[in-house]
Amino acid sequence: MRNPLRIGASIALACAAEAAQAVPGASGPPDPAALPAVNPSGLLAPRAALVTRAARDTGPLPLSPVEGSPSADRRPRLLVLTRSWGFEHDVVRRASPQEPSLVERALVAWGEEVGYEAVLARDTAEFEPERLARHAGVLFYTTGELPLSAPQRAAFLAAIEGGLGFVGIHPATDTGYAWPEYGALIGAYFDGHPWHERVRVRVPDRTHPATRDLDPVFEIVDEIYQFRAPYDRARLHVLLELDTDAVDLARPGVNRTDRDFALAWTRSQGRGRVFYTALGHRPEVWSDARFAAHVRGGIAWALGIDAPRPALRPEDEALRAFVREHPGDPARGHAVFRRTSGPMCIRCHAVHGEGAVVGPDLSRLGRERTREEILEQILAPSARIAAGYRATVLELADGTLVTGRVQEESAERIALVDAAAERRELDPRQVVDRRESPASLMPDGLARTLTPTEFADLVAWLQTLRGS
Ligand code: HEC
Repeated sequence: MRNPLRIGASIALACAAEAAQAVPGASGPPDPAALPAVNPSGLLAPRAALVTRAARDTGPLPLSPVEGSPSADRRPRLLVLTRSWGFEHDVVRRASPQEPSLVERALVAWGEEVGYEAVLARDTAEFEPERLARHAGVLFYTTGELPLSAPQRAAFLAAIEGGLGFVGIHPATDTGYAWPEYGALIGAYFDGHPWHERVRVRVPDRTHPATRDLDPVFEIVDEIYQFRAPYDRARLHVLLELDTDAVDLARPGVNRTDRDFALAWTRSQGRGRVFYTALGHRPEVWSDARFAAHVRGGIAWALGIDAPRPALRPEDEALRAFVREHPGDPARGHAVFRRTSGPMCIRCHAVHGEGAVVGPDLSRLGRERTREEILEQILAPSARIAAGYRATVLELADGTLVTGRVQEESAERIALVDAAAERRELDPRQVVDRRESPASLMPDGLARTLTPTEFADLVAWLQTLRGS
């Protein structure tokens, strides 16, 4: 019987060629069990050593899907190409050929949440026309010239016209210079990075999935690109731009005189959706909740799997509007979180070792989620369910349905916690059917048990949670 505490996060590693050449590194011979087997499709079969999971998941080790059946995963595939034919960024460096890089691990983990399967590639084998058709989208974090053959290029551009999504991150504009159709596809070529410092970023469109969790203006430390032709703002839908009032425009290397420094955009090509963000150089940026929300939203949009924002009840809309206007008091918010009546957060969530583990540990929430995401989670828990935390619905022999998070399971009993945070124990022989619930176990309407001020205080405190 499947244990619902376990999540399956497979990584199909599409670097067969690279793996075939893999030599045991200085760190000693790789564990044979950790080496993925090459299956006839040329892809590496997902194996435990390649399985990553969301950092905050504290459950037992995930199970990969049935061995040798890559089709066990029904999520749309995103082909993630992180090969550096030019300069190699630290964030895409693999410590060994079998160990996904920081960027790869993040993109795999986000797939759990967004609903895509990341297929990690370090060569262009997946661009063979018949293979490309297996993917719903392609993501580049590449540098230098792309060694795609003429038929591969033609197939790639045709697939985009037909609806293949394309996502470019950071150096994806610093690649493919000898392939002008690629420049036209992504919308610009890199023209140096005049700044590498704390900058202010403006968000001209906050309705897009890639930006709706961001503040209208935010500050971030990263390497900041400047673009040249085919860059043309009129052909792009700009999502992020540098606030030029807050940087030195007279600095050497600043070539543009029009103060037009877009940092993320979308465009369409035929039926294909293109999303590009220039951020993503520094390792810390990859664990910044705002960048994560931005890229997750951009990928979801490019793949056409972005869920619309849930419609909130008018009372909840009013609560959200209030919290957007009021920063809240974290100390008072901590007290709200610890209450054992009303929203009872502490009966399902632990923070720094205090509380229960029905839902995710929230000790690092402020690092992992933006304020808007925290707000939405509390107001509409079922709109996005944290990976590995779906509730289970059990149907008993007498027809009753019991919904909860299974916490313990043996031949003698199943113990679960329900939406009222009550523990229940059942005899497994009573269970006639078992499903995953589409809804979150976290109840709707918790915020309505609070005053607007208490709610703002709670959100303020949750934002301060940054791990130890
Ligand atoms: C009955 C149990 C229960 C209660 C009570 C509860 N939650 Fe949850 N919560 C969950 C579960 C289960 C999840 C994971 C599923 C999901 O994402 O909806 C979750 C998810 C979350 C998340 C998302 C975490 C992430 O990593 O994205 C946040 C934030 C959160 N809860 C905050 C709260 C707050 C604040 C309260 C009190 C107002 C609260 N919860 C009350 C069960 C509960």
